[in-house]
Amino acid sequence: MEINRALNTKFAEIFGPRNTTQYFSPGRINLIGEHTDYNGGHVFPASITYGTYGVAAPREDQKVLVYSTNFDDLGMISFDLKNLAYDKKDNWANYVKGMILKLKEAGHVIDHGFELLVEGTIPNGAGLSSSASLELLVGVMLEDLFNLSTDRLELVKTGKKVENEFIGVNSGIMDQFAIGFGAVDQAILLDTNTLEYEMVPVKLGDYAVVIMNTNKRRELADSKYNERRSECEEALARLQKKLDIQSLGELDEATFEANTDLIGDDTLIRRARHAVTENQRTLEAKAELVKGNLAAFGKLLNASHHSLRDDYEVTGIELDTLVDTAQAQAGVLGARMTGAGFGGCAIALVQEDKIPAFENQVYDKYLDVIGYAPEFYVAHIGSGTTKMG
Ligand code: GLA
Repeated sequence: MEINRALNTKFAEIFGPRNTTQYFSPGRINLIGEHTDYNGGHVFPASITYGTYGVAAPREDQKVLVYSTNFDDLGMISFDLKNLAYDKKDNWANYVKGMILKLKEAGHVIDHGFELLVEGTIPNGAGLSSSASLELLVGVMLEDLFNLSTDRLELVKTGKKVENEFIGVNSGIMDQFAIGFGAVDQAILLDTNTLEYEMVPVKLGDYAVVIMNTNKRRELADSKYNERRSECEEALARLQKKLDIQSLGELDEATFEANTDLIGDDTLIRRARHAVTENQRTLEAKAELVKGNLAAFGKLLNASHHSLRDDYEVTGIELDTLVDTAQAQAGVLGARMTGAGFGGCAIALVQEDKIPAFENQVYDKYLDVIGYAPEFYVAHIGSGTTKMG
């Protein structure tokens, strides 16, 4: 990966000449294992080459000055290390504040300010984890600038803490883990219950993963996300009256189906069924990918989407239109939504020489049904968050 020289130049223009260091933090796609990370199941994400660049230099005083080229209208945002409270008007800089605050709370010494210029290449609001990307970028930058004794897992957990306790989104650990531990051409099979993980080479031959962006604004996403979480917690609590389990991820399908009476509510049964079946699909999908059986892998992607649509109900007409159309195209082995759902992106496994035709067909259908255009990007699996030099 190449250093972003233009961004170094821009830093000098905005902040003046300094000794700077550059960092990069990726976005992520999730191949399969959706809405399983807060249910103690498996996820199978990968970091992508779209991401967030940061250029930083230390200051001697207590001031933090940050600027994002994606938010030129917000201009320079500044705050003092002595006041790290969440402030809505600080917008994206709250992620910077949150990381500093949570690391300080854990006992790390961050005793002077810094300047940070940020530039993101992740499409805005697309559900490819631009916020986790920024959290890990800031974490790795702080670790480097302040010689912190953190390790990668601590930074990953700190990012999740910022999301949960500072920003107020009740998300699981998948995004931060995928971004912190990502590696070129590898996906991560993560057991979210134990945090044990395995790096799995992604060998797709003459197929590629195409990311399809609904371009739908994800307004309801956070409240619906939290609602699904509580539904799963309620289903688990009812199962625990008889079953000795700590999470839905511990259940196989047969045991689950034999015990649905304990849940006794159709909606809650369907939510929990998704969590259980998706966990099984994720393990099967990993095994098929390792065997090079892309057709079987693709079928599991399709099944995942149908479960997210019918049992978990987190897709919506935009994602369904993209995915249904994609699944029907020549040269497509499978397609599914990726990330939280309710908009955002889907992925499809497409034969490379069919990609132009694929994009045209899906574009036309989506525009016709939804009334505005989708976007497409070919996913390349790149490294996790890293110091560039
Ligand atoms: C969002 C959350 C993740 C995960 C996915 C759904 O991306 O941040 O923790 O729950 O949704 O799989």
